[in-house]
Amino acid sequence: MCGIFGYIGNQQATNLLINGLRRLEYRGYDSSGIAILNSKISHTKCIGRVANLESVLPENMDGNCGIAHTRWATHGGVTKENAHPHLSEDGTVAIIHNGIIENSRALRNWLIAEGVTLQSETDSEVLAHLIHRARCDGLSPLDSVRRALRQTRGTWGLCALFEDEQMIVCARNGSPLVIGVGDGESFVASDPHALTPHTQRVIFLEDGDLAVLTAGGVQTSRLDGDSSDATVTTIDQSWGVADIGDFPHFMLKEIHEQPESLRQCISGRTVLSEGNGKLGGLDLSAKKLLEISHIRLIGCGTALHACQVGRLAIEHMARVPTQSHVASEFRYNNPVISPAALYLAVSQSGETADTLSAVKEIQLKGGTVMGVINVVGSSIARQCGRGVYIHSGPEQAVASTKAFSNMVASLTIFSLQIGRARSLSKRDGKQVVKALNAIPNQVEKYLEDSGPIMEAVQAVKDAPHVLFLGRGASAPVAREGALKLMEVAYIPCLAYPAGEMKHGPIALLEEGSPVVVICPNDKFRAKTLSNVQECKARGAKIILIHDEGDDEAAIEADIAIAVPATHSVISPLLTVVPLQLLAYHVAVELGRDVDKPRNLAKSVTVE
Ligand code: F6R
Repeated sequence: MCGIFGYIGNQQATNLLINGLRRLEYRGYDSSGIAILNSKISHTKCIGRVANLESVLPENMDGNCGIAHTRWATHGGVTKENAHPHLSEDGTVAIIHNGIIENSRALRNWLIAEGVTLQSETDSEVLAHLIHRARCDGLSPLDSVRRALRQTRGTWGLCALFEDEQMIVCARNGSPLVIGVGDGESFVASDPHALTPHTQRVIFLEDGDLAVLTAGGVQTSRLDGDSSDATVTTIDQSWGVADIGDFPHFMLKEIHEQPESLRQCISGRTVLSEGNGKLGGLDLSAKKLLEISHIRLIGCGTALHACQVGRLAIEHMARVPTQSHVASEFRYNNPVISPAALYLAVSQSGETADTLSAVKEIQLKGGTVMGVINVVGSSIARQCGRGVYIHSGPEQAVASTKAFSNMVASLTIFSLQIGRARSLSKRDGKQVVKALNAIPNQVEKYLEDSGPIMEAVQAVKDAPHVLFLGRGASAPVAREGALKLMEVAYIPCLAYPAGEMKHGPIALLEEGSPVVVICPNDKFRAKTLSNVQECKARGAKIILIHDEGDDEAAIEADIAIAVPATHSVISPLLTVVPLQLLAYHVAVELGRDVDKPRNLAKSVTVE
């Protein structure tokens, strides 16, 4: 989603800003822009890729201070006018903004009534004019931003540049902003990974924080004028290095990284002799785990599907009632929050606004919420304070792959831990631990020979729609397979628990309709195979994901893709891989922008 990068120091800012935007490209965007301060503010913006912006930059855009932005459209279409930066009418104030100004309609009307000519359809532009009006009233840059934000309702990650001041004023509320502290230079970005080539010393702004950046340092304060608690922390440089290597796309690279990232996630977190899991970051004793009344897992998209797999694993192993929730719905349904329950917020980026809002709602109502997060130091991780890092490493492709697997692995380890504190026998726990530890090698083995994926690609690529079916833990895998194919190949997909198919979606089936069925050799297999028969009877073309050696199942399929067999609780870690490959190869075949699918963003920082 929208990205911010800003710089002030002794170097020429333009190239630094363009390179900063490049590191934010993976988040998804549709236009970009840059403003540089010299004696005046000069700015350029355009629709499309950062490469387009670079190609239209004027040659003499020199200056040691500037701000740059990638925009993912919310208010107003994808146009040059709507791209950021936005400037005051006299060009003396430039702003870039992530988030949504909720009262922008009223503010726009008021500004127009005051005689201001607005240049864009965006909510963000009002900030440039409000700040400028405060400057005209004699307020300092910092106080101007403060006054403008007090007139505003919504979320912001904001940077403002002033023609007559060598500084960048930043503010955060609900949209991440990280300051990079350099030697004689300062940086700001919406994503810490954009900062790591320059500095590892960062300040994560909290909601309600403001910061004034100069070459000499950073001054933070609160919106209400109080002093801020923001402190400098050191982040891991290696996180930001995500090289595509010999792979044509990050998505394929990340699919192939799963064996290694699963090892990173599982390593040292299970105890075979006890059949137990060991997640130190939860800081939950066996006694506390025993006292938990119920569990709620919260996430969006792929993370939600991981929650749905995790829910089944927790109920299976710990016999504690567990629910998974769509984060964007959770907060607004006035959820009943119990202090005896445990809430887990699951997110790759740790910045998803819907999930972050759910976390805050739970905390506001006195609940305990922990993060299951990939990005270290992200907003949700910090808001939760405790939890599990899933250790996937950087995920650059918009379509999430390796993070799904590591979320499922982390939730499985959690299931073991709470299971062993409650009802899970050591013997049963040991079986799961053994199976989990074998998974990375099994995924590796599958990736060495992924079966007739390309045949499946031909069956799917021109289909008007694709149906995905599975039961038990394979039902969320079906949803994940459908989501992947939809988002990278733009083919309409439906996913249903296989038994539910005959209650409606079967009406879609006709001769040749592709149906992808996830059918590991678990207790649901026979029933799922009956559903396969029902599809075949209507002419459907069956692509079946089944366990290696299960020839009885394979024979029912038009295209049978075998994965190594494992414990039924963790079968999603294997069955999801062919679905990721299917989506990837269909997208390539159709010429899609695989790593940056249209309209999507990697880090969804608006609700
Ligand atoms: C799908 C995908 C999205 C994300 C969702 C949540 O491939 O990437 O559906 O899973 O936006 O993102 P995180 O996990 O960062 O909270």
